[in-house]
Amino acid sequence: MSRILLIGATGGVGHRLLPLLVEAGHAVTALHRTPDQAEVLRAQGAAPLQDDLMEMDAAAMTRAAEGHDVIVFSAGAAGSGLERTAEIDGQGPLKVIAAAQANGISRVYLVSAMPEAGRGGEVKPKFEVYMKTKKEADAALAATDLDWVILRPGTLLHEDGDDAVSLSHALPYGSVKRGNVAAVLARLIDTPAIRREIVELTDGDTPVAEAVDALVR
Ligand SMILES: NC(=O)c1ccc[n+]([C@@H]2O[C@H](COP(=O)([O-])OP(=O)(O)OC[C@H]3O[C@@H](n4cnc5c(N)ncnc54)[C@H](OP(=O)(O)O)[C@@H]3O)[C@@H](O)[C@H]2O)c1
Repeated sequence: MSRILLIGATGGVGHRLLPLLVEAGHAVTALHRTPDQAEVLRAQGAAPLQDDLMEMDAAAMTRAAEGHDVIVFSAGAAGSGLERTAEIDGQGPLKVIAAAQANGISRVYLVSAMPEAGRGGEVKPKFEVYMKTKKEADAALAATDLDWVILRPGTLLHEDGDDAVSLSHALPYGSVKRGNVAAVLARLIDTPAIRREIVELTDGDTPVAEAVDALVR
């Protein structure tokens, strides 16, 4: 059993991940923005913790992370503006790194994005900034001596998982159901031997457990 701080618990990936973590016996603290989300999170078996990534500084994140063994970052600005992208997708992981280091928490899971996203198509400047921001957060986390795992899914689909994925250090670009991202994250969290790895994820034809277990060195 781990004590997990889940950031982005109400998101498309996060709300599917939360019940999997609870079912696996973990104690989950779910960071959320608005008061009305607390009841749903509590009903899902989590301890809700209200705060806003736009306002939290590293000290606030450090306080939020106190008493946990694992931090999962699956929040995102979702194209809601450059300032929010910088603060949530960019500064968010940096605050998590500071909080992990301050609390002696070694295990951090970051949901990032496949760098090939949008390649070959017409990409808006905002999207370029988003991709650069995601990459910079990956680089900052990878430069630490924490036991990080960076998961880079392809384009996310609003669908539950079907236990059929491709998961590897490098994959051709593709899409992936948010439920499959959640299932892979849950399995990664229950496989702490996988650490200091960047892995890419799309839908595919390998069961999640098999795909994750194949990464163990
Ligand atoms: N969209 C794609 O195709 C794609 C592809 C690859 C990777 N990704 C990445 O995958 C991750 C998960 O994506 P998703 O689709 O699950 O995201 P999502 O549905 O947009 O959820 C984002 C989560 O972040 C939270 N959040 C946003 N602003 C916040 C703030 N100021 N303070 C606290 N929490 C805040 C949201 O809370 P609320 O419920 O309150 O809004 C929500 O829980 C993200 O990091 C995203 O960048 C996305």
